[in-house]
Parts: sequence; C-alpha cells; structure tokens
Amino acid sequence: MISASKRIRKAVFPVAGLGTRFLPATKAIPKEMLTVVDRPVIQHVVDEAREAGIEHFIFVTGRNKGVIEDHFDSQFELERTLTERGKRNELDLLARDLPGPGQTSFTRQQAPLGLGHAVWCARELVGNEPFALLLPDMLHHAERPCLADMIAAYNDHGGNLIAVSPVPEDQVHQYGIVGVTDRKAKVSSITKMVEKPARGTAPSNLHITGRYILQPEIFELLADQERGAGGEIQLTDSMIRLMEDLKQPFHAVRFDGRIYDCGSKIGFLAANIAYAMARDDLAPSLQAELRRLLS
Ligand code: G1P
Repeated sequence: MISASKRIRKAVFPVAGLGTRFLPATKAIPKEMLTVVDRPVIQHVVDEAREAGIEHFIFVTGRNKGVIEDHFDSQFELERTLTERGKRNELDLLARDLPGPGQTSFTRQQAPLGLGHAVWCARELVGNEPFALLLPDMLHHAERPCLADMIAAYNDHGGNLIAVSPVPEDQVHQYGIVGVTDRKAKVSSITKMVEKPARGTAPSNLHITGRYILQPEIFELLADQERGAGGEIQLTDSMIRLMEDLKQPFHAVRFDGRIYDCGSKIGFLAANIAYAMARDDLAPSLQAELRRLLS
C-alpha cells in the first residue's frame, strides 16, 4: 500500500521543444498547440493525466510558448461573449477542460540542453515526492489512459515505472530501449536501459513510449548528468544511474494501445484520423471522405 505522501499527485510536461519538423506551421505557434481533431496535442495529454487522477500540472516551457499558458487559463472575454449568445454547450466544454485555480505551474527551460535538463528544471515545483512525466509528442490512444494503468501498477509495486511497447527492429535506434525479465507480463522488472542504441546492440525491441513515474532522487542525478546521445542531457542516462548505482527498482508497464508520434508528420496525420474515427459525430462522414479519397 502506497502512503498518502507517496501518492502520484503531480505531472510534468516538457513543452520547450522548437518543433522544427513542423515549420512553417510552428513558426509562431508551439507544436504542442497543433490540433488533433479539435483539441491541441497538449490538451489530449493533459486529459490523460487528469483521467489518471493527477492534481497538479507542471509545464516546462520555453520562449514563444506563452500561448500554452493562455490555453490553460480562463478566457474572460470569450466566456462573456458565449454567455451573452447563450452558447451553453461551448461554455460547458471550456469549463470542463479548465484546470482548477492553482493547479498549473509553468517554468522555463532556458536552453535546449535535452529532455533530462528539461525535467531537472521542474525540480523545485515537484519537490520531494514521486511524480508522473508525460512527453506530449506521444499520444497514447486506448480505452483506459496509459497513465491510469501506470498508477495502478505503481500502487502495487512502488519504485519507478516506464511505459513500453514493441517497435520494429529498424526503429529501435530512434528510442530509449529497455530489457525486462518477462516480456509477456503486463508489469515486469527492467534489467537494462539504453538511450538510442547503436544498430544491433539493443537489449530488446521494447521502446520507452514517453510515460514515466519517477522518484524524486532522479533530480540529484540529473543535476550533474553528463551529455549523452546526440550531445544532450538524457533522462535515460540518469535513470540508469538511479537503477544501477542507487539500486532503485524500475518496472516496465506494457502499453497495448496505439501510439501516435505527433512530432512526425505521418504520426500527426494518423492521430487526427484515428481520434476522429473514434468519435460518433465524425466517424461516418470521415469514413465516406476517406473512401472517396482512396478510390
Ligand atoms: C525521448 C526519450 C526516449 C523515448 C522517446 C519517446 O527521446 O529520450 O527514451 O523513447 O522520447 O518519444 P526523444 O524523442 O526526445 O529523442
């Protein structure tokens, strides 16, 4: 049983990336604000965290990301106009998505030094408690939110957890990869981790999908983490030290839904189709359009 002080209450969202792969769309708009159907990518990921019971949302932003902060605030003029026009549904929709007062925090990563550095920038806001980390590029599409599965596994096992899923062998060098004791189990002990392994050296084809539950000791290790793959301060390298040097347990939680990498154009387009096809109000017309396009 996990004590109240160890409950996962906070989630960190690193949103400082430049989004160069989506230029010119991302020249003035953060990539996290591009929409999958009618919700920004970042909203989908915050939805996942909220559905898993997260109470505080910490965004690690950067220059030109102010609109993300605005998105998670109330919009007085818009609400007044909608009220005057009697637009009840739209008002309810906005109210439903709005985090409560004091439930969001924003800090800045001042230089693009890598994911490990971005997470370290959240250390004061997280404090001395375990936390969730969600990488907003990766949309996890499933009946039950990935993070909810992970928190359930955390309540049973404690320690640190990482969501994983298999990728084709020719893609393993693009991700963090883990080796586990039992590939078939939903939750399994991690025996090895490597960030972007050279071809032919990966311990398995299970990739780190971008959902983590981490213990606060990770911050001490990130503080002096040397640069790794790609010349960046890599979160995975500090997780390896947490596991191997500090002997903290790490578990892999297998995610069985679909993952859309919205940092890539194809992933982003596929996410739009998949999320629209999952909606009763859009699926029939979209299906007809797709049939017409493909015929
Ligand atoms: C990061 C992580 C990597 C993980 C990936 C998932 O890499 O370092 O371990 O597999 O996210 O998207 P990046 O995408 O920043 O290169």
